[in-house]
Amino acid sequence: MPVITSIDDLKRLYKRRVPKMFYDYCESGSYTEQTFRDNTSDFSRLRLRQRVAVDMTGRSTQSTMIGQSVTMPVALAPVGMTGMQCADGEIKAARAAEAFGVPFTLSTMSICSIEDIAAHTTAPFWFQLYVMKDEGFVDAAIERARVAGCSALVLTLDLQILGQRHKDLKNGLSAPPRLTLPNILNIATKPKWAVDMLQTKRRSFGNIVGHAKGVGDLSSLMSWTNEQFDPQLDWTKIARIRDKWGGKLILKGILDAEDARRAADFGADAIIVSNHGGRQLDGAVSAISMLPQIVRAVGDRTEVHMDSGIRSGQDVLKALALGAKGTFIGRSFIYGLGAMGQEGVSRALEVIRKELDISMALCGVQKATDLNRQHLLVPDDFEGAWA
Ligand SMILES: Cc1cc2nc3c(=O)[nH]c(=O)nc-3n(C[C@H](O)[C@H](O)[C@H](O)COP(=O)(O)O)c2cc1C
Repeated sequence: MPVITSIDDLKRLYKRRVPKMFYDYCESGSYTEQTFRDNTSDFSRLRLRQRVAVDMTGRSTQSTMIGQSVTMPVALAPVGMTGMQCADGEIKAARAAEAFGVPFTLSTMSICSIEDIAAHTTAPFWFQLYVMKDEGFVDAAIERARVAGCSALVLTLDLQILGQRHKDLKNGLSAPPRLTLPNILNIATKPKWAVDMLQTKRRSFGNIVGHAKGVGDLSSLMSWTNEQFDPQLDWTKIARIRDKWGGKLILKGILDAEDARRAADFGADAIIVSNHGGRQLDGAVSAISMLPQIVRAVGDRTEVHMDSGIRSGQDVLKALALGAKGTFIGRSFIYGLGAMGQEGVSRALEVIRKELDISMALCGVQKATDLNRQHLLVPDDFEGAWA
């Protein structure tokens, strides 16, 4: 068993064990990848304030996200095709999250279905919805999430049109992968992935095939998804979905103070400050650098969560200190999943929890809920750089 001490260790193993097509799908940003890079490099511009001679016993990373108790304020973000990173990947990640005591968010574009996750877990999970033109599909998905006992709907607002990732086009990304010669040669070097994948029946989009009208196989699915993301999504349509759902609603993909104010006025239970992990608008600012402005804009009218670029517990600490009530990790848990399945997701969460805990201690903080701006050293131009 390899010794895992960081998210980077998991990433190295992940790269070795998962077909290149799916590694590239995860480890890319759109176009020049500038925003993808800024997401992580801006975290490293912030510094933690070391304090001494403060009693560091009795520490706790416990908190709440939208009123739900969490062992640390770090949820698993919705990640499409997680079940291609590892057979039955969404089920494995959801089980790891449940055992750890953090929320799992299932993507609309998952391989395992809403019903699959409900059947293999006991804790309520969150469902992420992409708004499609087919209202019948959207309404049925909301109803399926309700029946499955989902405790929040996460509505993603920053992907009504796809930012291009060059590698996905070059690799001919698909689920399951097409058996071209380069793919066969590459998969032959990932025997565990291949054997596990042959043993599961879940190899296509479980929330869509058989649920969307006229989508029964892969080719009809491709044309359906290309046509279906609704480019007319606006606040009226969001209100229709809110009313249809009637439960806790989280709006994901907010990166602007104006939009954040609008979301707070609208009555969202939480917003996620996010640029989709640098996968959509290349050239947009990093999520962490927008966080302080957005926190100021909404005050306590809605809960502010953030994602995009978190690779460590120190990063989580920085986001909480800048005013986030909760955070999400995307790639950090996918590395673990691709590296070691369910155990790898548990390891990723454990790495982050330990880093958060030790860093809190060295900053003289006992409770994650006490973190604030005082615990950071922020460069003068951190927020104002892009005014
Ligand atoms: C491979 C991949 C697939 C993703 N698929 C979705 C998705 O289906 N729905 C969604 O709302 N966000 C999706 N995201 C964005 C994540 O939810 C999250 O915003 C992002 O991963 C955060 O950045 P991080 O990976 O740096 O943590 C995806 C991200 C990745 C890396």
